[in-house]
Amino acid sequence: MTTQATNERDYFTDPSVLLDPYGYFEEMRPRGPVCQLETHDCLLITGFDECVEVLRNPADFSSLNSLASSAFPLPFKPEGSDISAQIEAHRDKYVGGDLVVTFDDAHHTNVRALMSRMFTPSRLKSNEAFMRDYAAELVRAAVAEGGCELVNQIATPYVTMVVADLLGVPAEDRKKFEEKIAAGQTVGSIENPDAPTDMSALEFMGAYFYGYLEERMASPGTDLLSELATLPYPDGTKPDILELVGLAVFMFAAGQDTSAKLLGNSMRYIVDVPGLQQQLRDDRTLIPWFLEEILRLEGSSKATHRIARRDTKIGDRPVPAGTQVIVALAAANRDPRRWGEDANEFKLKRPGIKQHIAFGRGSHTCAGAPLARAEVTAILNQFFDQTSAIRISEEKHGKPGARHYQFEPSFIIRGLEHLYLELQS
Ligand code: HEM
Repeated sequence: MTTQATNERDYFTDPSVLLDPYGYFEEMRPRGPVCQLETHDCLLITGFDECVEVLRNPADFSSLNSLASSAFPLPFKPEGSDISAQIEAHRDKYVGGDLVVTFDDAHHTNVRALMSRMFTPSRLKSNEAFMRDYAAELVRAAVAEGGCELVNQIATPYVTMVVADLLGVPAEDRKKFEEKIAAGQTVGSIENPDAPTDMSALEFMGAYFYGYLEERMASPGTDLLSELATLPYPDGTKPDILELVGLAVFMFAAGQDTSAKLLGNSMRYIVDVPGLQQQLRDDRTLIPWFLEEILRLEGSSKATHRIARRDTKIGDRPVPAGTQVIVALAAANRDPRRWGEDANEFKLKRPGIKQHIAFGRGSHTCAGAPLARAEVTAILNQFFDQTSAIRISEEKHGKPGARHYQFEPSFIIRGLEHLYLELQS
């Protein structure tokens, strides 16, 4: 426990907050669903309704800081009641300012339409076959060894390869992508506070995608990259090649730690909640319910961020143009006003569970949500198919009631650094 008053703990850097955001959010909740932080010039939103209100109001809230976060002051002095033009003029000052998740208005609508081509039912279907086969292979190897470290040994290579397959990365290059991502750092880490998002793996992949797209532009085939390389935006304009590179690369960035950590968070409950593993083994139709409750309770994205671009309001609270806000998804998903007094507890088949905002809400809602759900479901099914029992390694994580887990010290990602399992065939 920190000895400082709660209002002096720093959401972005205090290790006690990074490792246990939920305790921090519960301490902040009595200050209201929208409150001013004292450590940073920004608002923290912990209320469910208020988070949804902001996410559904892209006209008043820009996404430009959704990756860079609200930790830093604006790189300009806001002038007037509508600063939309000032925000756009400073886009190049923002980490990820060239990635879809930070786009506003028509630019975002156009790129979002391109993304919908990536997730067509037929493409997802063939990707699901890959997911099943690759999950089976990884789990088989782990069972043969009698156990595994789930997060790095299985989840990370698995989610990397699934996106590589979806995008059509040639088989001979996939290993290089996997190695680069495995060597990367979790985003939002205090180990590197001046660079909240490590972009080196993205730059590495960008160079590859540039090459693939150039090739497909010269001689298009029928694969996804050819489609991206040749089709126009819905408004008839042609995307720039760098735009497409950014889009392809962002799929890896957005779907890496998030999906891998969701698998780790899910498995922790499976091995720790008495009776749950057997319940899921006996009735696989419960897996979707289980997954949604894990997303609500331990979703792998803690928060996103917005900048008020006009004088506006959240609820009744006036919010001047230029105000930065932390949209605390993890807090909203445990808001007792929305979820009841047992909001902090795991509950299978919770009424209204699909309303959680682990994947955001509104125009920027996670484009990869169906993929993330399919990935985790496929691999959990393989674990259940190929084992008769999955147990936590007590040697690594301690006995029941005295477990110790190491979470990533990140203000973006909620997830375990490691999860050691014993697997019985
Ligand atoms: C458990 C896994 C995942 C979680 C918790 C998650 C969470 C989120 C959240 C909260 C947002 C909204 C950000 C905002 O509003 O500012 C988002 C956006 C996005 N996610 Fe995910 N994500 C996951 C997996 C994936 C995967 C697997 C992909 C793709 C392969 C993906 C691609 C995207 C994209 C492209 C966006 C931006 C959408 C836009 O700006 O229109 N995500 N994700």
